[in-house]
Amino acid sequence: MRTREAALSRLLMAFITSGLVFMLFPGTLLGVWNLLQISGRESVGLISPAWLQAHGHAQVFGWIGSFLLGIGFYSVPKLRDRATGIIRAAWLCWALWTIGVAMRWAATVYLWRWRALVPIAGALEMIAFLIFFSIVSQHRPRDSGKSRMEAWVWVVMSATVGFLLSLVANVIESIRTSVQGASPAFPHSFDQRYLALLGWGLLVPFVWGFSAKWMRVFLGLRPLRPRILIAGVLVNLTGVALAVAGKFSVATWIFVAAAGLSVIAIRMFEPSEQEAKTRGIHKSFPFFVRLAYVWLLVAASLGVAAARWDTSGGIWGASRHALTVGFIATMVLSVGQRILPAFAGMRLLWSPKLMFFGLSLLTVGCTLRVSCEVLAYQDYAKWAWSVLPASALVELTALTAFAINILGTFLLQRSHAVKEPMIVNIPQALSLPQPRFTEKTSTRRLTL
Ligand code: HEM
Repeated sequence: MRTREAALSRLLMAFITSGLVFMLFPGTLLGVWNLLQISGRESVGLISPAWLQAHGHAQVFGWIGSFLLGIGFYSVPKLRDRATGIIRAAWLCWALWTIGVAMRWAATVYLWRWRALVPIAGALEMIAFLIFFSIVSQHRPRDSGKSRMEAWVWVVMSATVGFLLSLVANVIESIRTSVQGASPAFPHSFDQRYLALLGWGLLVPFVWGFSAKWMRVFLGLRPLRPRILIAGVLVNLTGVALAVAGKFSVATWIFVAAAGLSVIAIRMFEPSEQEAKTRGIHKSFPFFVRLAYVWLLVAASLGVAAARWDTSGGIWGASRHALTVGFIATMVLSVGQRILPAFAGMRLLWSPKLMFFGLSLLTVGCTLRVSCEVLAYQDYAKWAWSVLPASALVELTALTAFAINILGTFLLQRSHAVKEPMIVNIPQALSLPQPRFTEKTSTRRLTL
């Protein structure tokens, strides 16, 4: 059992490490380069759309997708029961996913044999996801002794379907573009609708699901309001369907309503009833998690403004980055540094101070970026163009600090998961002040 747990931790670390590599180089460095070019030319329209999309794909699928797959595999108890064959399949999933995302990025940026490689890359990503899906879909949560599934499970299922649909849309459009297009970039009208699916159909519900599952423990929040959460997800799905149909002016209002419902359901801004669990990480953790939800509301509101007033791509871009950097990246930097050290063999986070440094810089960078993107692109204030490159470098430093902290944890921190048979209760393990093993903790089953 101990070797299986170690094998699962290794698998998780492989997904997280490749996700960090995608985030840093193909994702963020290319994003910074694109922003420097846009600021130099004072227009987003003069930049290669293929490069913009290569950045977006690397961030959403390369970074966040790899994290989701890795954490998803780690959380399925079945892998602990009959590990060997399934773990092999999970490694195959990692290899196909990593090759697929890397191939897509390289073919889009270097244009080498892109007509063949972009659809092949999409197919590899799809096969990798189907391997993941076939493994996790056999799993029934152990607490389903209660006849009904918990609300957070429905939310994660909706996000998983969003993930699948995003990959299907990507494969179909990749084939169409490779046959008919002049470059690997998806046409603008498709891309806008596809981005709504990625943002609100995939990324946002995953974060809601994990928040519903974990934030009560981590932040000491009051009990979840499950019906309101499900209502929020249904409203959100309506918004996604309308956005995909091109009805942005209605869809954006619906996203505001869905975001509001999620906040009410999770009780994010209500006073906590218990102390937050911050041992081993920085004390500012609850602040940044709440701040992420402020960014969610900002992103949704900017979407409404974009549908009404955008003439340059600037308000859409600001809304998208309030969502991807403000909401998603702030959550990943907060929750990732909370859970990944424990999942990776019961380690302690390498540096809580570096965690604070990264999150603070991300907040500063994102605030500058979102505000100045509107002012500059829309031609409201010329000086804002000179702030945008600085905002990109601040965000790059923030994300680099996160990557260093996680890799420092994997490489430099001792694993405490060696002395006992490792069947761990994850929520319990996560709230342990120090990784220590007692008779009680070491013989519990993993029940995420
Ligand atoms: C240092 C941080 C980042 C920088 C400098 C950056 C820069 C950019 C730029 C310049 C664009 C072009 C559109 C626009 O002007 O707004 C863009 C688009 C995009 N970014 Fe980022 N970005 C960063 C982080 C992220 C993160 C963390 C994510 C996702 C988790 C992300 C996802 C996307 C997506 C999906 C697009 C749309 C691509 C498309 O047009 O299809 N970005 N980014």
